[in-house]
Amino acid sequence: MTTGAGTREAVSGLRTERTAPPAFDVQKIRNDFPILRRRVHGHPLVYLDNAATTQKPQAVIDALTRYYTESNANVHRGVHHLSEVATIAYDAARTTVRTFFNAASDREIVFTRNATESINLVANAFARPLLQAGDEILISAMEHHSNIVPWQLVCAERGARLRVAPMDDRGELILDAFAALLNERTCLVAITHMSNALGTVNPIADIVRLAHAADIPVLVDGSQAAYHMAVDVQALGVDFYAATGHKIYGPTGIGVLYGREALLEKMPPFLGGGDMIASVTFERSTWNVLPYKFEAGTPHIEGAIGLGAAIEYVSGVGFDAIVDHERDLLEYGTRVLEAVPGVRLVGTAPAKASILSFVMDGIHPHDVGTIVDREGVAIRTGHHCAQPVMDRLGVPATARASMAMYNTREELDALGTALRKVQGIFA
Ligand code: ALA
Repeated sequence: MTTGAGTREAVSGLRTERTAPPAFDVQKIRNDFPILRRRVHGHPLVYLDNAATTQKPQAVIDALTRYYTESNANVHRGVHHLSEVATIAYDAARTTVRTFFNAASDREIVFTRNATESINLVANAFARPLLQAGDEILISAMEHHSNIVPWQLVCAERGARLRVAPMDDRGELILDAFAALLNERTCLVAITHMSNALGTVNPIADIVRLAHAADIPVLVDGSQAAYHMAVDVQALGVDFYAATGHKIYGPTGIGVLYGREALLEKMPPFLGGGDMIASVTFERSTWNVLPYKFEAGTPHIEGAIGLGAAIEYVSGVGFDAIVDHERDLLEYGTRVLEAVPGVRLVGTAPAKASILSFVMDGIHPHDVGTIVDREGVAIRTGHHCAQPVMDRLGVPATARASMAMYNTREELDALGTALRKVQGIFA
């Protein structure tokens, strides 16, 4: 059993203010997600690819429709009524995001396309001007490509070095080794809150404490964590937090960068264009105030509004209930997979959440994924955009079942049954 220490504290993003959630009724939640009613290949859809993207509640779909039906206009530009309505809705979405992450100010919430763009923004506007030859960026061995490649690009350009804190065979960060890699050349720690390939939840507060003791800022990739646990950027003490809307039950194409105001204030713009300026002449331009300095061009207005609706939905359910339900799914799903002969879990860190990565003896994960799909079960197979994780754990790929708040024990049973069929085919 791998989830023993996956207590609320272990999977917590340290939000301090909790409101009592309403009783959790998974069937009621499922009714809010219309796509879950459909059938695939003649079977009820069992959607277990939530780490890739989550499904959308009706409230989000309605918010998008309402926006285009009633208030579509560009923001921050027009004096006409629709532009004012759209601007108010867009800015209100930012406040909703700020509250969700408990940032100190709306100025600290930048809308981007996705977590990848948020990380690239920090790589280009924070790290690039700072890095000297021989400086270091410290990441971990369990990063998604989006938290590796932007640092490789900027390190190569500046003659800096990318260092990698190791993990053990279970996929747990080796904290002592991480601490030993912090030194006077380290300019930034960039680390995932939760591994998309393994489910490992990293001890972000400890990581921040160690890094800050050496005066090193910390960026956290929250792509996976932000829909599984309450994240409080102030309690965690992070300097930057990257998240993506489509995993928090919101639309694609909208992401978030939280940045500490004092750092964002000092950073130059990332992209240039309309809306990010205060004034423009052919000789020089000056920049708009935060956060608009980092939002060049027409933003993804409906994306932000949809994300706001998604966050309101998630907050209405409450993370206390979501964490409890998903912990039960993780424990139950672990038992289901362990009972299937020939299945081996990959990623068994004591603190993990909502992801079951596994391999089956003698059967390629792509075959596993293809066959279970015929049973209506959607999982992801491959390297999960985390090739170094696969290399470290000595597997070319895994099959991955990833859970969200609307999944059920019955669906995990359906996965187990489908995996037994896979075995039957290959026996
Ligand atoms: N990064 C997403 C995943 O893990 C797409 O599937």
